[in-house]
Amino acid sequence: MSVRFDDKAKIFFLKTDNTEYQIKINEYGMVLHTYYGAETGETDMSYLIKEVDRGFSGNPYEGRKKRGISADTLPSEYSTDGAGDYRVNALGIVAADGSRTCDLRFKDYNIKSGKYKLEDLPYVREENDKSDTLEIVLEDKTLELEVVLRYGVFEKKDIITRQTLIINKSDNCITLNKASSMCMDMIDKNMDLIHFHGRHAMERQTERIKITHDIHTIGSKRGASSHHNNPFVIICDHNATEDFGNCYGIMLMYSGNHMQEVEMDQAGSIRIVSGIGSSLFNWKLGKSETFETPEVILAYSGKGLNELSFLYHRIIRENVCPKQFRDMKRPVLINNWEGTYFDFDEKKIIEIEDSAAELGCEMFVLDDGWFGERNDDNAGLGDWKVNTDKLPGGIKTIADHANSLGMKFGLWFEPEMINEDSDLYRNHPEWVITDNNRNPVMGRNQLLLDMGKPEVVDYLFDSISEILDSANIEYIKWDFNRSIANPYSGGLEAEYEGEVLHRFMLGTYKLMDKIRSKYPDILIEGCSGGGGRFDAGIMFYSPQIWCSDNSDAIDRLSIQKGTSYGYPVSVMGSHVSASPNHQNGRVVPIITRGIVAMSGTFGYELDPRKLSIEEKEIIKKQITDFNKYYKLIQKGRYYRLTNEFEEKNYVCWQFVSEDKSECLVNIVLTNVHANAEIITVKLKGLNKNGCYIIDNSSSSCNDMPLEASFESSGNCISYSGSALMNGGYSFDPMYGVYPGMQIHFKMR
Ligand code: DGJ
Repeated sequence: MSVRFDDKAKIFFLKTDNTEYQIKINEYGMVLHTYYGAETGETDMSYLIKEVDRGFSGNPYEGRKKRGISADTLPSEYSTDGAGDYRVNALGIVAADGSRTCDLRFKDYNIKSGKYKLEDLPYVREENDKSDTLEIVLEDKTLELEVVLRYGVFEKKDIITRQTLIINKSDNCITLNKASSMCMDMIDKNMDLIHFHGRHAMERQTERIKITHDIHTIGSKRGASSHHNNPFVIICDHNATEDFGNCYGIMLMYSGNHMQEVEMDQAGSIRIVSGIGSSLFNWKLGKSETFETPEVILAYSGKGLNELSFLYHRIIRENVCPKQFRDMKRPVLINNWEGTYFDFDEKKIIEIEDSAAELGCEMFVLDDGWFGERNDDNAGLGDWKVNTDKLPGGIKTIADHANSLGMKFGLWFEPEMINEDSDLYRNHPEWVITDNNRNPVMGRNQLLLDMGKPEVVDYLFDSISEILDSANIEYIKWDFNRSIANPYSGGLEAEYEGEVLHRFMLGTYKLMDKIRSKYPDILIEGCSGGGGRFDAGIMFYSPQIWCSDNSDAIDRLSIQKGTSYGYPVSVMGSHVSASPNHQNGRVVPIITRGIVAMSGTFGYELDPRKLSIEEKEIIKKQITDFNKYYKLIQKGRYYRLTNEFEEKNYVCWQFVSEDKSECLVNIVLTNVHANAEIITVKLKGLNKNGCYIIDNSSSSCNDMPLEASFESSGNCISYSGSALMNGGYSFDPMYGVYPGMQIHFKMR
């Protein structure tokens, strides 16, 4: 068992292969977080806590003579509002009499083998792992409120999940105005917070800040996890690097409003609270009702950021994404969006399919515009019926044609949305989330369906199923193209209106679950104007997510790198698009574009009929190379070899196979200089005694003009793993516009 309770010392020990987590119940029944980190040999780590009497930090009534006992200073496992803990809290309530105090104390516990599951929300699946569950039951006797803290311990994967059930055992209603998933205190100082902020078409940019005496809130109020702040943060030693230092990951598995609060308190301790965003939220908990919070995936690495990323990559690939797709070769796809936008008909699609098949593409995806009166982005959402003016043979004709060429066929939907100009809106204006007393805030001229209404979910399930049954559709692109505003559901009574945004997410998850259950083999690619819902919640249904609407390879370097801290490349939708790029006008060589897109679920997003003969030949080689490296890229260990805070001229990254017998090194220059310094990069993760040779390489470097050319001192025929890791690899000077190089090393 990876969970043990020491009854005498009142300590819970949660152990994985390389980590230990401790919780202690003190004499007053307060549930204290006493440790998370490298293993301690089950030493009671509460010796680190000093019960200091701090002025204005109050004491529980029973402990009033021991002034060092204070909810405000002791490290808590789940803190509450109103009971003397003035730091950021995990739970806030309003009782039927209007009181707002909640004081939770230990009641009971359960240790079970196997991982708990959630009823209505996504969670980390057990699969074939050895995992155990700890449930700690807390209660507020006055409120008759129970809170169950649940922990899933994945022993071999060094992962601990946390989740909370809030149960009303009283006869009265209790309103939750904050219901976080977890709280954890660390006594370490000198820690940094790494978080991933961004905007549409520039998601998950890495920011690293020193944690100060302040509350840092990383969250979203947009009704979606958002392009703007990913629900994943890292807390690490101030001097932590890729290969050194203590790093903690906190990843919320939720796709709606969220909040990660990080506070350094008066004594320099750090608290992290993570869960559903409390803005615009409250939840009425009736008699005997339970509120289930989203799950948090925690990981600890004592060996720096690379190890932390590895732990997340593995758990997401193996225990979060649907099992069917874990080992399935995902098709190299071609999507028509940037190739045609709304301007297509059956003839054009068939021509595109023909030329895509010649290049070696394995799936054709028809994007937005195939349904209703959808000729631009102002109409049609909600009307999931084929537009037979554009596609007289329906979806079947173009899907059959793709199949006849040996390609699969995929289709775009945006299920949760509706246009005012649609038959659905004309028939059901009451199905929309909007405040009826005012004009709604519009986004892309569309509104949101009220996914909290079961009849909306049923309509979407039936109409989408009808299309899926009409042809051999093997992939869905599930889009979501605006933020939520005017959160009001005509169907709820006033006091339940604070539930609209969470109910929206529950309805979306329900629909995804119904579609997954009926069509388990259909590959769903998540999308939200690119990566606006790039989170582990969506990944539970969808093993890949379109990473960004920005398909420019150079911007993608920082987007994909930021994404890689928490998420594996096997979930990052990444395509080669036309040059000049449609989003920023940048011209980038096709080989460089290919190198960047290959660090993802690879595909193309352009009109293949417009390619030159030379480009077509390069694409054929890219697809062959990608398929050759597929396992190495998707399952190999990913290493970031450059630190963007220090290196501004190039980005380098590497994949190493599980058995270390091969690796793929990728480099893209973002600035080229005359008479440039030589770039030498130390590779990682190789077999130090292995003898590696260069098996294949591709490069988009232009030939140098004569006066700038260099005499190669000759490359080695073979390199030992230790030479490549300790001495490094020196790249030949690179010249031209955004040159890139990909080198495949193989052990002899
Ligand atoms: C936003 C997506 O991110 C794009 O790839 C494309 O599918 C458009 N929506 C279509 O409207």
